[in-house]
Amino acid sequence: MKITGVPFYRQSFGRKEIAEVTDTIKSGWITTGKKARLLEEKICAYVGARQAMAVNSCTAGMHLLLKASGIGPGDEVVTTPYTFASTSEAILYTGAKPVYCDINYDSLNIEADTAAAKLNRRTKAILPVHIAGLPLHMDRFVSLVRSKKIKLFDDAAHAIGASYKGKMIGSIGDGSAFSFYATKNLTTGEGGMVTTRHAGLAKKIKLLSLHAMSKGAWKRYAKGGSWRYDLLDLGYKYNLSDMAASLGLVQFEKFDKLQAARKKAAARYIKNLQDIDALKMPLVEDCSDHAWHLFILRLRLKQLKINRDHFIDELNKRNIGTSVHFIPLFLQSYYRKNLNLNRRDFPNADKAFREVITLPFFPDLKNAEIDYVCEVIETICRKQKR
Ligand SMILES: Cc1ncc(COP(=O)(O)O)c(C=O)c1O
Repeated sequence: MKITGVPFYRQSFGRKEIAEVTDTIKSGWITTGKKARLLEEKICAYVGARQAMAVNSCTAGMHLLLKASGIGPGDEVVTTPYTFASTSEAILYTGAKPVYCDINYDSLNIEADTAAAKLNRRTKAILPVHIAGLPLHMDRFVSLVRSKKIKLFDDAAHAIGASYKGKMIGSIGDGSAFSFYATKNLTTGEGGMVTTRHAGLAKKIKLLSLHAMSKGAWKRYAKGGSWRYDLLDLGYKYNLSDMAASLGLVQFEKFDKLQAARKKAAARYIKNLQDIDALKMPLVEDCSDHAWHLFILRLRLKQLKINRDHFIDELNKRNIGTSVHFIPLFLQSYYRKNLNLNRRDFPNADKAFREVITLPFFPDLKNAEIDYVCEVIETICRKQKR
């Protein structure tokens, strides 16, 4: 079959997902219930956390981690500007102030020593991101937060399946939030999971995730349940439905296979592209196991006559779907205006942003599709060589 284009993303659902969702519909219980609980148990055991709480997004999960830890107005949380809106939104929702540090130019992640320079007596937590699924240097962050008696929460939206020095992401800091959004390594359509080793924090998160009701619907409508409930706090509507969890349960069953396919696709991209001078491959480190959520290619712009945007246009002409991860927050209107962010304070993030292209990347990507993308990239690099 002749390849004439490759989409940015394609789902890998099969008959089992359809059967499991159908089973949920037929069961008569589609909102949060036993399937959401089962997914919590599976993810908890998989990442080696003490507690896991299903939520309807990673954004909600991060908000709950901060809120349930008592973070609010007057507090500061150190984070990265090189991320999706969610990381900062979660901090801003609590009334706390996000404080940004520049990234490591090669990894696109923030480092503990750069974060350390931003700490002061108002700092209550650090919220870094494992960009693309490349684990942060967690041991350095753990030593830092221990010495300062603050919390380490990680935005693990990209990092389900990743590990650092033999420990799964989700089991290392004070709390992690995973995303099960449509394109994520494990999906429930929309959804997420919070993991933590603190029982008290877990209990509070569970409560806040469903209006802080003393009893969820699952318990109220169960046999012998009572209609009566009490609102114990100001809560949120952040629960994960059983409809969504059913997708996640099947995805979890085949998760090792999905991850292996991502790893194989990444290896093929690297093998095909690594010898092209104008390109820089994503960083892989011996101390960690990459989750390979995204394949972020970097351009060495000095070797090319065209910029990143023009490069993407050339890929589009050959029907190759791409994206850019991420447009840093210091280039976004709201953050420039309200948080006074200026690109000159983040030289690494600013430079990296102008070089990145996220290539088509998903478990069902065929070898022939990868080869097509690589051939097109090679031709562009050859034609546009400076
Ligand atoms: C780095 C990062 N954090 C958080 C999120 C938010 O995830 P969700 O859509 O599950 O809230 C995303 C979404 O893609 C992301 O890329």
